[in-house]
Amino acid sequence: MRAAGAWGRVGKGAPVGLLEGKAAVITGGAQGLGLAIAQLFVAQGARVVLADINVDKATEAAKELGPAIAVRTDVTKEDDVAQLVEACQREYGRIDVMVNNAGITRDASMKKMSADDFRLVVDIHLYGAWLGTKAAGLVMKEQGGGSIINMSSISGKVGNFGQTNYSAAKAGIVGLTKAAAKELARGGVRVNAIQPGLIRTAMTEAMPQHAWESKLAEIPMGRAGEPSEVAGAALFLASELSSYITGTVLEIAGGRHI
Ligand SMILES: NC(=O)c1ccc[n+]([C@@H]2O[C@H](COP(=O)([O-])OP(=O)(O)OC[C@H]3O[C@@H](n4cnc5c(N)ncnc54)[C@H](O)[C@@H]3O)[C@@H](O)[C@H]2O)c1
Repeated sequence: MRAAGAWGRVGKGAPVGLLEGKAAVITGGAQGLGLAIAQLFVAQGARVVLADINVDKATEAAKELGPAIAVRTDVTKEDDVAQLVEACQREYGRIDVMVNNAGITRDASMKKMSADDFRLVVDIHLYGAWLGTKAAGLVMKEQGGGSIINMSSISGKVGNFGQTNYSAAKAGIVGLTKAAAKELARGGVRVNAIQPGLIRTAMTEAMPQHAWESKLAEIPMGRAGEPSEVAGAALFLASELSSYITGTVLEIAGGRHI
């Protein structure tokens, strides 16, 4: 057995997790970074709701996870997001952590990008995160506290070629996070953002090899990140380890674009 420590077990063999007794919602939780976050949260004692437009995949994942349910959610639909927060309260009696993580890419140079693809990406990432922050934030405030984590991207910090839609949405998420942090702080609700760099998931594995190689060359640590490394940062922001941290942006990028 591992020695007692931040991730370990303490006491007489009783499992003590950093999220013991907490209930967490993770949008886009069916796969990739959302699922990795859910897995680490469960390992640390949380009960989770996997919210995804792909409910079949989320249901499969929830079955394997244990204390987890899946809820079909389109994060761009206000009613869906309201019902999602209600489902978490109904199932677990509370909502302590909300991770607004669902996302897509529709990359193209501006010349080729359609207005629909601009709107769709901004809608899912930015409007979706706003809906999730609003719905969860209000309930958490009533409850006396909580932690909201919004998934931004290094693309929102530096702007990526072919991602005018995605970079705009991810930069917008930073503004949303800081403004919401100020509005919700007195209610004990913390709001922070994560900016992953190049992380190995289905989203990035769809990238052409030359694009992957050129991104890799920009990373001081010389490698892509793993989903579990993003999950570690989410766990920190979700837990009491970050109790005095709000309105911040945490870069998980191996030193890229610092
Ligand atoms: N992978 C990376 O390198 C990387 C880097 C920076 C930021 N991110 C961000 O992390 C988040 C997760 O990325 P990922 O790599 O795990 O992607 P992914 O494609 O593996 O997973 C995204 C999930 O979101 C779901 N989803 C899409 N549209 C939805 C909607 N309207 N409502 C609900 N769910 C929806 C999908 O079904 C999928 O399960 C995204 O916000 C992404 O922009 C990823």
